[in-house]
Amino acid sequence: MLLQYILLVSATTFSHCYAASTFSPARPPAIPLAVKSPYVNCWQQAGSDSDNGGPGNGGYLAGQWPTFWAGQILGWAGLIRVDGTSYTWMGAPAPFPTVVNQTSFEYTSTRSTFIMDVDGVVEMNITFLSPLYPTDMMRQSLLFSYLDVVVSSSDGGTHDVQLYADITAEWVSGDRSAIAEWDYGITPNDSIAYHQIYRQTQLLWSENDQQTEYGNWYWATDNVPNLTFESGFADDVREAFITSGALGNTNDTDYRAISDDYPTFGFAVDLGSVDSTAVSTLFTLGLTQEQAIQFDGANGDVSVPSLWTSYFATELEALTFFHTDYANAAGLATTFDSQVAGDANAAGGADYVTITSLAARQAFGATQLCGTPDTPYLFLKEISSDGNIQTVDVIFPAHPIFLYTNPTLLKLLLDPLFINQESGQYPNQYSMHDLGSSYPNATGHAAGNDEAQPIEECGNMLIMTLAYAQKASNTAYLSQNYALLDQWTQYLIENALIPGDQLDTDDFTGPLANRTDLALKGIIGIAAMAQIANLTGNTDDASNYSSIADNYITQWQTLGIAMDADPPHTTLAYGMNDTYSILYNLYGDRELNLGLVPQTVYDMQSNFYATIFEEYGVPLDSSADYADFNWQLFAASIAAEDTTAMFISAIATWINESPTNRALTDLYDATSGDYPSGIEFTARPVVGGAFSLLALTST
Ligand SMILES: *[C@@H]1O[C@H](CO)[C@@H](O)[C@H](O)[C@H]1NC(C)=O
Ligand SMILES: *[C@@H]1O[C@H](CO)[C@@H](O)[C@H](O)[C@H]1NC(C)=O
Ligand SMILES: *[C@@H]1O[C@H](CO)[C@@H](O)[C@H](O)[C@H]1NC(C)=O
Ligand SMILES: *[C@@H]1O[C@H](CO)[C@@H](O)[C@H](O)[C@H]1NC(C)=O
Ligand SMILES: *[C@@H]1O[C@H](CO)[C@@H](O)[C@H](O)[C@H]1NC(C)=O
Ligand SMILES: *[C@@H]1O[C@H](CO)[C@@H](O)[C@H](O)[C@H]1NC(C)=O
Ligand SMILES: *[C@@H]1O[C@H](CO)[C@@H](O)[C@H](O)[C@H]1NC(C)=O
Ligand SMILES: *[C@@H]1O[C@H](CO)[C@@H](O)[C@H](O)[C@H]1NC(C)=O
Ligand SMILES: *[C@@H]1O[C@H](CO)[C@@H](O)[C@H](O)[C@H]1NC(C)=O
Ligand SMILES: *[C@@H]1O[C@H](CO)[C@@H](O)[C@H](O)[C@H]1NC(C)=O
Repeated sequence: MLLQYILLVSATTFSHCYAASTFSPARPPAIPLAVKSPYVNCWQQAGSDSDNGGPGNGGYLAGQWPTFWAGQILGWAGLIRVDGTSYTWMGAPAPFPTVVNQTSFEYTSTRSTFIMDVDGVVEMNITFLSPLYPTDMMRQSLLFSYLDVVVSSSDGGTHDVQLYADITAEWVSGDRSAIAEWDYGITPNDSIAYHQIYRQTQLLWSENDQQTEYGNWYWATDNVPNLTFESGFADDVREAFITSGALGNTNDTDYRAISDDYPTFGFAVDLGSVDSTAVSTLFTLGLTQEQAIQFDGANGDVSVPSLWTSYFATELEALTFFHTDYANAAGLATTFDSQVAGDANAAGGADYVTITSLAARQAFGATQLCGTPDTPYLFLKEISSDGNIQTVDVIFPAHPIFLYTNPTLLKLLLDPLFINQESGQYPNQYSMHDLGSSYPNATGHAAGNDEAQPIEECGNMLIMTLAYAQKASNTAYLSQNYALLDQWTQYLIENALIPGDQLDTDDFTGPLANRTDLALKGIIGIAAMAQIANLTGNTDDASNYSSIADNYITQWQTLGIAMDADPPHTTLAYGMNDTYSILYNLYGDRELNLGLVPQTVYDMQSNFYATIFEEYGVPLDSSADYADFNWQLFAASIAAEDTTAMFISAIATWINESPTNRALTDLYDATSGDYPSGIEFTARPVVGGAFSLLALTST
């Protein structure tokens, strides 16, 4: 019944339903609401594409349900009652009071803020804050998000106002027939009221429809005098508020399936008489899982705890800390937002702020801090493409955001890969592709039958390890992992100049021999190893690998450049003179300051790109209509200034105009801006590559 109602709503023309909102700095394909980890990952769809449960409604908070990144609804509703009349400010509850008028939307790196006008008499300022703490392990380890609803009178009068918000049990499992259980409580020192909701049968390490199947969800607010709560059938709970402005303080104990009379967990706050003084109500929503990852490390398969368990004795202490930390969190978030916006504006202008600030929560939102303060790890899920954990060629496109915000985070991503392979649990000479087929199981590939991308992953590991060591001045890390880095280098020396029929990271393009850009990555990997050898006192290796890399790069220029083309450019593969691909791997040469590739190659590519722009950017290669978000930005960050500006402008325009309707896709049709046929990536951490220019310019 709910579903039919939603279809009816989305079938109507939205311009008739909504007064127009402004969108700043852009109207993203989907708006991040609570985006903190692979499982706390909730969005409001905006773009008009009709796939994936869409179309999105254009970027309005009210009138449409929020969704998990994978597309299924996550019930989260908001109502407000002003002088006895109810309105909907979030979600699409039925019964469905008229929606408030959204007048503006704005996003920063950590916040999505909606301003609502309620009948010209009350203004609401609704802020979703998913804080990012790149250098504060304790705070970053908490997988909660804030919702701050600020209400004030806007017509000079005073108004009687009650505020309501709820979530449903849809958060606790991807299986809508799973039985949910819940409880209501007050934290020990009486400061916070919370609904705790969980899957009755906990399935450790399991996912269903990409959602996690264990742990406890918390939906909390300040335990103020005029707070009421209720759990129960969605329609009853919301109707109670609409009728009386308060809830029954009742606890439904009929634990049942998520979709059976949708169990709903409401809070209502009577704000009393509201004048022009802003009144704030804060909610916290998030997940606690004591056990986070199954990791096959140096001592075999172990359960790795969530890092927050080292700082807090109980889930309620973690929740209490997070919730009561809001004033501090808001200040730190403003500092972080300003830093990104300031740096991005200086490096690439306003359009670059549009791109980087939208990518930040998405990139961090695929990761989770685990382990202990002495041995922390950052685990990453390859969201949407196949759910692998610690995928090397996903960490690589994402890694600029970690280098920029805190290089140690890159180390924490690489550590589990080194540990598993150095303990002899991976049989191949080349680097593994990922640490396990399905997050959260980092159980390795003892049979060595992971998706083979040998040159790609060896090059990525060498480049990222040196990039981290340079930024963090940590040469001990290079010594510690020298043997394995050298093993991968031998593979590259044997295979990189004339690459076999291999996949590269863009595996949907299929295998191809003699890929020009893949060869370049391998050669840069060898040159990176020469630096690593130099920094660790391995003099003979340093000079040997350095001369091998120089020799290869000379040959590569003959093999991979279509000199007679107009204008000249590198090819997709050797000898295929009427082809091209974006030469994004050139980034490594600049990033590591290797000086391996002559400036003439940079200039040549920069001139060439400027001639092949389509509406929303440059296609990935000459056989494709699709453009790659990250690889364009890698190329942009090492191009001449005017070409850089062309890329940044095209991508910011795409963000604002794209009909794609989920969290940023990293692959889109360069002409229509929609998903390419058959490939609908979303919410992938690779968008951290947006920070490629910042990783080069920051110190
Ligand atoms: C929204 O704006 C429209 C057009 O101005 C107006 O008719 C309607 O009453 C407003 N609704 C609310 C809830 O403010
Ligand atoms: C809304 O709240 C946010 C965060 O609290 C604040 O930065 C912003 O200025 C407010 N906007 C308006 C229009 O009041
Ligand atoms: C809710 O019901 C459960 C089950 O009867 C009970 O354990 C719990 O104490 C109740 N909570 C409240 C706040 O009434
Ligand atoms: C409850 O605990 C939080 C976190 O320790 C603290 O900030 C708050 O002041 C406490 N409240 C009371 C009433 O003790
Ligand atoms: C992880 O492994 C466990 C067995 O240890 C399995 O039950 C679970 O389904 C796996 N998780 C995923 C997401 O595949
Ligand atoms: C609680 O509600 C009453 C009745 O609406 C109101 O008079 C009072 O101001 C409210 N108290 C607070 C703290 O908002
Ligand atoms: C790859 O390039 C080398 C050097 O030009 C050439 O000898 C070889 O035949 C090519 N391999 C394929 C499969 O085209
Ligand atoms: C490292 O490179 C520097 C500068 O080229 C050189 O002087 C030094 O001898 C090298 N060290 C090693 C161990 O190769
Ligand atoms: C340079 O390295 C290659 C590959 O490991 C090796 O075969 C060769 O013997 C080395 N040359 C010297 C002079 O060490
Ligand atoms: C490609 O162009 C190069 C010069 O840039 C030329 O040497 C080579 O013969 C060309 N290859 C083909 C297959 O036309």
